[in-house]
Amino acid sequence: MAFRKVWCALALGFLLPFSCAHTDFFTSIGHMTDLINTEKDLVVSLKDYIKAEESKLEQIKKWAEKLDQLTATATKDPEGFLGHPVNAFKLMKRLNTEWGELESLVLKDMSDGFISNMTIQRQFFPNDEDQTGAAKALLRLQDTYNLDTDTLSRGNLPGVKHKSFLTAEDCFELGKIAYTEADYYHTELWMEQALKQLDEGEVSSADKVYILDYLSYAVYQQGDLAKATALTRRLLELDPEHQRANGNMKYFEYIMAKEKEANKSSTDSEEQEKETEVKKKDYLPERRKYEMLCRGEGLKMTPRRQKRLFCRYYDGNRNPRYILGPVKQEDEWDKPRIVRFLDIISDEEIETVKELAKPRLSRATVHDPETGKLTTAHYRVSKSAWLSGYESPVVSRINTRIQDLTGLDVSTAEELQVANYGVGGQYEPHFDFGRKDEPDAFKELGTGNRIATWLFYMSDVSAGGATVFPEVGASVWPRKGTAVFWYNLFPSGEGDYSTRHAACPVLVGNKWVSNKWLHERGQEFRRPCTLSELE
Ligand code: OGA
Ligand code: FE2
Repeated sequence: MAFRKVWCALALGFLLPFSCAHTDFFTSIGHMTDLINTEKDLVVSLKDYIKAEESKLEQIKKWAEKLDQLTATATKDPEGFLGHPVNAFKLMKRLNTEWGELESLVLKDMSDGFISNMTIQRQFFPNDEDQTGAAKALLRLQDTYNLDTDTLSRGNLPGVKHKSFLTAEDCFELGKIAYTEADYYHTELWMEQALKQLDEGEVSSADKVYILDYLSYAVYQQGDLAKATALTRRLLELDPEHQRANGNMKYFEYIMAKEKEANKSSTDSEEQEKETEVKKKDYLPERRKYEMLCRGEGLKMTPRRQKRLFCRYYDGNRNPRYILGPVKQEDEWDKPRIVRFLDIISDEEIETVKELAKPRLSRATVHDPETGKLTTAHYRVSKSAWLSGYESPVVSRINTRIQDLTGLDVSTAEELQVANYGVGGQYEPHFDFGRKDEPDAFKELGTGNRIATWLFYMSDVSAGGATVFPEVGASVWPRKGTAVFWYNLFPSGEGDYSTRHAACPVLVGNKWVSNKWLHERGQEFRRPCTLSELE
């Protein structure tokens, strides 16, 4: 079964449920809570070490004080002092044994316990890649949710329970990570923020000269020579001997002089530049739509259409299991039709599903079309696991519920996929179905294309994390205990392109979903095909 799923994912270029050696902490809160506990244990161990070190110092101090008094008396009248035979004996004993014991005490290493704890735990610590991943997630959130750098740095986010802010050094670190990604736009924002916080008097080990060095380069890379020059001048005021800055200064002046010259002779290049700028603005319109929908802006539905969205009690077309206890159903959208079921999975069921999935969660990977290797991708940042109906009555009960309420056969469906998105976790716009030019998609599964998607929300999300449909302008917000359902294919079997959708990055909190992809086989009489292609 696992093999089949890997293969169909390969063919699709979709996620691959492979587990990697490293766990990529930043992609899921599930794994990060383990780190919080590890850190708590380490603090306990560190405190034990401090106590041991303090009691050692206390003993040494007592000895020193005792000897201080003794030697003071002895040196005042050495002969008289040694005239007492006990004193003579004790001097021998002290020098022969006690000082040696003290030496051993001074040399005694109290850090063993703490260090061995550290060594064990360090194996599970995040690495550079995790740190970079977490930083990139912050930058992604900043873009998607239009957050200005200062707001983010002061931690003024909607819905946060535990306020937290960034130091000048943290901002510098973020800027450096953006810089190594050649992302000069964010380099500038974060270096400027670091500088601002230092200018406001924040005490920090971050160095203005270093910050200005990065900042001026990022500004130069974005084409603002005048600003780059001003920043370099500021750097040189702090460090007149700075070699690179002196070199850059000369270079900037040379370029600016050359540009002035060129401007005089022609305006062609300017026009060209404008043209590319216009192109840049038109570029990736989907991305902008996606981000707007994530922010909850720009819903396109007219009031007339909105009035035709209803809520109702639904009995699964007189399904015996639901006639006496129908479920609440709401229309989320009309075209494509997206419905939401309320109170459709209980808190206990959610806990069971999460517990079953947790040990198996692994970073979703994709197939790099160029190298042919498995790799992680920024467009799918989450952790997921697959659960079979055979392993738990709860999973099996959930599968039956989906079958009863959709009227579709679940025996041809994929297993239940559980996904956890940490802060910054997202899945950029995609289709769940295999397109015409991917004829091998799901071939191994042998049950046809993904006819429909059922998506359970297993948590609320404090901010962000909507499921959005950029083609039609729909934002569906996670609500714990609910599920949404839509058809990916028309009854003709043709893919419905209006179902293109995405999971917005989580801004604050943590998002758990599980989904069931229902396939075409088995639905021939449940949802007969039509002759018209796009209905
Ligand atoms: C998916 C998907 C949406 C979401 O996993 O294919 O589209 O909101 N998920 O998690
Ligand atoms: Fe999807």
